[in-house]
Amino acid sequence: MGSFGQNNYVLILLLVFTLWNSHVVSRRLPEALLSEKHEKWMAHHGRVYKDAAEREKRFQIFKNNLQFIESFNAAGDKPFNLSINRFADLHNEEFKALLINGQKKEHSEWTATETSSFRYDSVTEIPATVDWRKKGAVTPIKDQGTCRSCWAFSAVATIEGLHHITKGELVSLSEQELVDCVRGDSEGCIGGYVEDAFEFLAKKGGIASETNYPYKGVNKSCKVEKESHGVAKIKGYEKVPANSEKALMKAVAHQPVSAYVEAGEYAFQFYSSGIFTGKCGTEIDHSVTVVGYGKGGDGSKYWLVKNSWGTEWGEKGYMRMKRDIRAKEGLCGIATSASYPTV
Ligand SMILES: *[C@@H]1O[C@H](CO)[C@@H](O)[C@H](O)[C@H]1NC(C)=O
Ligand SMILES: *[C@@H]1O[C@H](CO)[C@@H](O)[C@H](O)[C@H]1NC(C)=O
Repeated sequence: MGSFGQNNYVLILLLVFTLWNSHVVSRRLPEALLSEKHEKWMAHHGRVYKDAAEREKRFQIFKNNLQFIESFNAAGDKPFNLSINRFADLHNEEFKALLINGQKKEHSEWTATETSSFRYDSVTEIPATVDWRKKGAVTPIKDQGTCRSCWAFSAVATIEGLHHITKGELVSLSEQELVDCVRGDSEGCIGGYVEDAFEFLAKKGGIASETNYPYKGVNKSCKVEKESHGVAKIKGYEKVPANSEKALMKAVAHQPVSAYVEAGEYAFQFYSSGIFTGKCGTEIDHSVTVVGYGKGGDGSKYWLVKNSWGTEWGEKGYMRMKRDIRAKEGLCGIATSASYPTV
């Protein structure tokens, strides 16, 4: 038994070593691939980390995000897909922190003090589908960068649309003017509100063009230009009656409309294509522009939403969000506090 036992022992050792070795190899291989993926991603997004520790921390987050995305897509039980994008090295909590500071002013305060009329209330006939892009009323997708200026981009997109509808020309307008000049509850890159932007512009008379007042993505001091009651004028704004997707539809049928949504969840962070169904709540933290609505191939209804995170997020910068859901707030709260400028 003695010699047999020794042979056996060696064999077992060999076996254990082989198993351990292959285990290490099979773990190392994807790790190397993942690291390569991360490196390529860094190069593509021009990301540079301050030291090795930061890089390692970001790599771990990147890996976790990638794993989340891959298992989400592999499950295949949702009508939309996710993909790696420029938020791929951000933990979801960090991503949330990039959105507007939602604590500053509860949206209920707007709806409580707002007494504006809704000019599209009595509308009965509206098209089954609307896409303001096809009518030439939507400028190319823009990119807010790391400035929490979604509110400025949303306000501008609605004014660009209205200007096209009333004047027949599409002019890219200035988010930077709003970031620099709108004050009060709104504070440039700290965060702001579409309603503040509309009120500011109604008083001032109009907004500068993107060409005259280009986007910098940082908080600068307000430039008062001689030129300038702006190239596009607005008189004021109106709120879409809260919590009614039907009312929102009436408004969007007539012009692009600004809406707040809750965009802070993982699925929103990495949305890439299809009709988004959540998960998301109604704690609004981001402004977008609803530029249409329609139905997917399988008949599922969606809102066509223009975002300001560049063309590599979502469907070339757009998101289709499920429309007509059971909750009256709409998906991600899209119907809770929409508004549009008036002339
Ligand atoms: C942005 O500018 C305004 C006014 O100049 C100032 O009150 C605010 O603190 C600035 N914010 C940042 C983040 O620089
Ligand atoms: C999701 O990705 C898969 C695989 O690439 C593709 O077949 C499918 O059409 C995509 N679904 C959506 C909704 O984009």
